Amino acid sequence: MKNIIITGGAGFIGSHVIRLFVTKYPGYKIINLDALTYAGNLENLIDIDHSSNYIFEKVNILDVEELERVFAEHEVTDVVHLAAESHVDRSIESPLDFVYTNVVGTVNLLNAAKKHWKGKFDNNLFYHVSTDEVYGALGSEGFFTETTPYHPNSPYSASKASSDHFVRAYGETYDLPFVISNCSNNYGPYHFPEKLIPLFINNIITKKPLPVYGDGLYTRDWLYVKDHAIAIDTVFHKGTVGDTYNIGGFNEWKNIDLVILLCKQMDEKLGNENGTSEALITYIKDRPGHDRRYAIDATKINKELGWSPSVTFEQGLSETIDWYLSNQEWLTNVTSGAYQQYYTKMYEEGQK
Ligand code: NAD
Ligand code: DAU
Repeated sequence: MKNIIITGGAGFIGSHVIRLFVTKYPGYKIINLDALTYAGNLENLIDIDHSSNYIFEKVNILDVEELERVFAEHEVTDVVHLAAESHVDRSIESPLDFVYTNVVGTVNLLNAAKKHWKGKFDNNLFYHVSTDEVYGALGSEGFFTETTPYHPNSPYSASKASSDHFVRAYGETYDLPFVISNCSNNYGPYHFPEKLIPLFINNIITKKPLPVYGDGLYTRDWLYVKDHAIAIDTVFHKGTVGDTYNIGGFNEWKNIDLVILLCKQMDEKLGNENGTSEALITYIKDRPGHDRRYAIDATKINKELGWSPSVTFEQGLSETIDWYLSNQEWLTNVTSGAYQQYYTKMYEEGQK
């Protein structure tokens, strides 16, 4: 019997992890701990939120007392930690928000786990979900492996690198059993439309410009979010305590090539004349400190734990577009209010 806190479960990746764990492990109690920031949305979980093994706790990881209450009340055995400020552009505007949630919040969770588990750690695990951005930028060749030195370049990646270091340090110093995974760019349903793929899908639907940063030749390595959730399940159950696993699909795309593929698929699905969406592409000012290329070497998780992605990029992207086209109310709900002010500031007030 496990009572697992999954933090950030109302966000993009967290909601897929919650859905997988709640449905696959009816014997586990799954506690979704989330502050419901702009990025957290309980609508992401309406299909499973009545399950008897699912509990939602609206708690901020900066609130130490509340964390301790949740650990005690639910006799928590394990943590899968995804809650974070996750958008690089927002980290450039407000770095401290990232320090508070990603660094201080992670240390608060580590302290709560250490205190509640009372140094025995017989059947406990603290799983920290992290990013490939901690490794910095690659040139045109090579891959990030688990031993690549950390070299974060944005306030977001610096905060995630710092939280990774704290998790590892708690393992060394207090014997807290931990595992860390560093994943590449995810895409799929419930992705907040401030990130490249859902932003561009939304802008094509609403016939707005598609703002490509710089020369558009930046490279990202894309993984379908459901495959990331399966990888997290695999690492949680089969990973070696104290180890790190890189997760990725060997699926590199230059931004502009990805955007052109997306435009073609959107035109087909919307019944538009070919080229309609591509005409919306607009090159704008680059993101400061923009990492040129990310590429994950996922050999270790494949060889040691037997995980590999289950869908091709074309399939995953097509399913993703279909999901957004069938869930336009979700898009309308999350892009109203505060998000509109963010969008105007980022893209329409000449800031870019
Ligand atoms: P997201 O922004 O969609 O969701 C973050 C969730 O955390 C939201 O539900 C939000 O309400 C919650 N949250 C934020 N601050 C909180 C706080 N102080 N207390 C409690 N809850 C809080 O993020 P995502 O894209 O789903 O990413 C999840 C995790 O995976 C993050 O740790 C991120 O660094 C990591 N990651 C993301 C990607 C990606 O491509 N999206 C890739 C690799 C790793
Ligand atoms: O690599 C993993 C990371 O991927 C995660 O840790 C982050 O949480 C996640 O947000 C993502 O970071 P990126 O910065 O790579 O994702 P984003 O969708 O913001 O941008 C992808 C690429 O597209 C990047 O090169 C910047 C570019 N871009 C992005 C936006 C939002 C544009 O050209 N225009 C845009 O409007």
